[in-house]
Order: sequence, then structure tokens, then C-alpha cells
Amino acid sequence: MATFYKLQVKKIEKTTKDCVLVSFDLPQELEEIFQYKQGQYLTLKAIINGEPVQRSYSLCSSPLDKELRVGIKAVPLGLFSTFANEQLKEGDVLESLAPSGKFYVDVEEQADKNYVCFAAGSGITPMYSIIKTHLTAEPHATFKLFYINQTVSSIILKEELEALKNQFMERFEIFHFLTKQNRAVELFNGRMDKKKMAAIFSGICDTDKIDDYFICGPEAMIFLVRDYLLEQKVGEEKIHFELFGTSSDKPKLSKEDEKKLSGKTCTVTLIEGGKSMEFELAMGGDNILDAALNNSADLPYACKGGVCCTCRAKLVEGEVTMGVTYGLEQDELDNNYILTCQALPTTEKVVVDFDQ
Ligand code: FES
Repeated sequence: MATFYKLQVKKIEKTTKDCVLVSFDLPQELEEIFQYKQGQYLTLKAIINGEPVQRSYSLCSSPLDKELRVGIKAVPLGLFSTFANEQLKEGDVLESLAPSGKFYVDVEEQADKNYVCFAAGSGITPMYSIIKTHLTAEPHATFKLFYINQTVSSIILKEELEALKNQFMERFEIFHFLTKQNRAVELFNGRMDKKKMAAIFSGICDTDKIDDYFICGPEAMIFLVRDYLLEQKVGEEKIHFELFGTSSDKPKLSKEDEKKLSGKTCTVTLIEGGKSMEFELAMGGDNILDAALNNSADLPYACKGGVCCTCRAKLVEGEVTMGVTYGLEQDELDNNYILTCQALPTTEKVVVDFDQ
């Protein structure tokens, strides 16, 4: 069962004009529950305009520092991010699920590994946690970071990255790309594209020597970098990515299912926290998560875009079709795990278990 814990805001720092870093006090009794891996995120809940709102934000601190800090960039019409940037104060209390996420590889102290990171905008937040942790805990690790922003003033964590570079001068390099300001070297101007990728991998990085790649930012950048690496025969297991937002539309039934299921309803049974509830859902209408929330269920979710995996549950009976499933691994799909924010029932009964 998804449990939310109360966390008090210890500190709020502005890192750019539209991004805050929010640190939390961690009471001793929650220390174990909130132990985390570099690159993981918190799902936070706040009451905004009288309504509970949940969103996931990456931890931009290192577990080695015993610090719990997230970065929250204001996005246009973003309810939670605007609230965090404009109203949240030190001393306020938010609720949070325990840390989760799979955007990491294990720290191996004796390893001799070379890492490459691509980040855009607030995609730097988990990356900072990853870079700091591996550089500190693995004395032979090296990192190259390719970081894309609009202008110098929009670079999140700029000073902390510089400090890290000074601390690990021999093992950490940063290459800044700007899309709305000119840099002297043409390669570093504008968005990432195939030409830039080719230039990076012919002049700066050698795929034969890289152990792991981390990519975080918007969908288009992630898939461009991932597809380029796959074309260069980099093994899929070496490419780790975390999507920040998705451009995908709401999930839809296929044309065939739409014809077959039009006018039918599905009986949805939800199991959560050892209790079950049942409701009727028009086929081809809402996804299971939205329908459950409309029926007053108290379920965990954050992105509602198939990315964060917070709404994951096991389908124990019936069938569904899903939109995007970025948040699930193949073995989870094989074992009938679904993202309820992306799932539309295609049978007249489905049973979904959030406790498994
Ligand atoms: S809420 Fe994020 S994947 Fe469903």
C-alpha cells in the first residue's frame, strides 16, 4: 500500500528564476524509509486550492550526504510547480511517498567506469545526484556531462556543478550547450541533433570506452540520443533514461476495439491497502486511474503520462490496452503489471491490485 509520510520543508533555495531546490528535515524514525539511491525521486502531495495534488520530483542531493532535496522547476500551468515556486515556505509540511525510481546503476567502489550523461533543463536534477554519488564513492570513475539549456541564467545547479568540477577536476568534464544564446564554438549552439551527436562521438567520447549512459530531459532529446547510441551498436543495457514529461496524448482504444466495445461498460475492482472497491467504467472512456479517482479512490499517481510508474499495479483479471508504458520494464509487462494512468479495459471485468 502506498503510504504518504509528512515531511517538513527545511530550506528553499532559488537556483534560477523559475526553479527552487526544496530540502526536507528527515526525522530519525523516517531515516530508513527515506534511504534512497542516486537518481531516484519523491512523489509529493500538497493541498492546493482545496484539492490534493501529487507530482514526482527527482532528488538532486546525494544519498552519501544524508540530504533529502528535490528540484522543482515551474512549468506553464503547472499546479504543483507554481505552488512550490511561489507559495511554499520553510517550515511548511508536505506529504511524500518513500523514494522510488530505477534511474541508477549500483555504485561499485572498486570499479573503473566511464560514464556519459546528457541532460536538458531540469533533467539535471537526478543527474547531479548520480554524478556526485559515483564520483565520490568510486575513486576511478569518470564523467562527461553534456548539458543543454536556453541561456546561462537558466542553468540549474550551475554553481554546484562548477564546485563538483573543481573538486574532481581530473575526472569530471562539463560541456554546456545553449539554445538561445551564442557560444563561441559552433558545436555548443542550439539543440542536440544527429550532427552534434556524431561530432561528440568522433571527437570527445569513444563509445568503446563508455560503460553507462544516462539521459534525462524531454522526450525528443532522450529518444534522439538513445537512437543514436543504438545505431552505434551501444548495448541497450548501458543506456539509462528518465523522461521528464511526455508529449503523448491520452491513451485510446484501437479502431477495432472501439467498434467492438462501443457502448459497453467494464466492472473494475480495485484492491489497495487490503481493501477493495468496485465501479463501472464506460469502455473507451477514462483510464482506470482517472476513473478510480473520480470514484473517490485515494491512489498514488504523479505524472499521469506513463513515465513515473507511481500508478503501477498488477492486473490480476481481465485485459487492458495501454498508451505509453515508459515507466515499466519488460519483465513487469510480462508479469501483468500495468500503469493505471495508461490503461483502458478491453474486457467486461478487470481486477487491479495495487498491493502486489
Ligand atoms: S502516474 Fe506516472 S506513470 Fe502513471
